[in-house]
Amino acid sequence: MLNFEFCAPTKFVFGRDAQEKTGALVREFGGSRALIVYGGGSVVRSGLLSQVMASLDAAGVAHMELGGVKPNPRSDLVYEGIRLCKAHALDFVLPVGGGSAIDTAKAIADGACYDGDFWDFYCGKAAVTRALPHGCVLTIPAAGSEGSTSAVITKIEGNLKRGLNTDFHRPRFAVMNPELTFTLPRYQLACGITDMMAHIMERYFTNTRDVALTDRLAEALLQSIIEAAPVAMADSADYAAHATLMWAGMLAHNNSVGVGREQDWASHQIGHELSARYDTAHGAALAVVFPAWMQYVYRHDVARFAQFATRVWGVDAAGKAQEETALSGIAAYRAFLASIGMPQTLEEAGGKPEDIPALAASVVNGRTGHFVELLPPQIEEILRIACKA
Ligand code: NZQ
Ligand code: ZN
Repeated sequence: MLNFEFCAPTKFVFGRDAQEKTGALVREFGGSRALIVYGGGSVVRSGLLSQVMASLDAAGVAHMELGGVKPNPRSDLVYEGIRLCKAHALDFVLPVGGGSAIDTAKAIADGACYDGDFWDFYCGKAAVTRALPHGCVLTIPAAGSEGSTSAVITKIEGNLKRGLNTDFHRPRFAVMNPELTFTLPRYQLACGITDMMAHIMERYFTNTRDVALTDRLAEALLQSIIEAAPVAMADSADYAAHATLMWAGMLAHNNSVGVGREQDWASHQIGHELSARYDTAHGAALAVVFPAWMQYVYRHDVARFAQFATRVWGVDAAGKAQEETALSGIAAYRAFLASIGMPQTLEEAGGKPEDIPALAASVVNGRTGHFVELLPPQIEEILRIACKA
């Protein structure tokens, strides 16, 4: 196990009616004038936005609203949010929604305390040293932004989708009521399930030795998701299954299972290029890239892939060569993704095979991955595998 520092200070308020506590939580963390950030309208239609505003009013928190965040959130709304915070001396950012609203809020919180262009943080020109406090009300189990150090924003000019990790991005609180996810379209739920599994697997496939505890934690999380997913997909009001997914999505990405080990992240980097170019949903991009990545790299550590197959997918290794076991695990993962309705090929995810060289060339810094380091020719190969079901 590698040395690590881990500070995850978010206060999680989980369960039925948790959103009623939002106003008191903003107060608890020093907010008196909040910017509410939300997406394309699901929280308006569900009545959640009104409930949150009523809770803020009851706690004496003044508020303004900024709606219209799109999935794969863009820089234009971040600039608008920063302008509002500065113009109205707002002191708290409150996203109500999924990863896109939360990431937009994180970028606004950074930019509101900075005199330059917030994009400086995303292109490595500057580091965040101050940010407004932010806390969130989560409506989809997926990105894990409610507990993570990340925010991912797409700069409109140049279509650059870039992530930024900093401890300033850990929300002060996260309100997590599984009932708020009952209104999710099945496709969005499936995208979220795919994403949270990917967050665990980006950490699971590592070259670091002596990581038995975090291996077991990762495997337990994956198994719990695999069990809960079909139940939640079949019954949009099954509280237990949605609660499992909601908490699993947070644990998948707050780095509990990633500490002390080298992590990969190639599939995410490649997936971001698909989202930037085709506006593919993040989970859908991962559904076609991650199995192709596995197919390409498994020979690097067949034993680890065989462990993944037997412990996560229940593959029976008896009488099989290790490689056959490993491949059965990858096949089981592919079958699971198909069973929840995820795209199977690059084209089904909106990609064009003729763009493969450009997609590979646009990956940040021209290289990615740690389990196996990939340069553009290898990324191209993975994307070609992703063209086949
Ligand atoms: O915009 P609205 O109308 O709210 O609809 C959203 C959106 O269309 C809808 N939705 C969310 N909750 C709903 C709902 N519809 C009905 N009922 C509900 N309860 O779902 C759609 C997707 O929402 P979005 O916020 O985009 O989903 P997600 O949480 O998957 O976030 C995706 C973004 O997060 C980034 C992704 O790259 C992508 O940009 N990520 C952020 C990470 C982080 N900050 O730690 C890590 C991830 O790896 C990921 O990169
Ligand atoms: Zn992700």
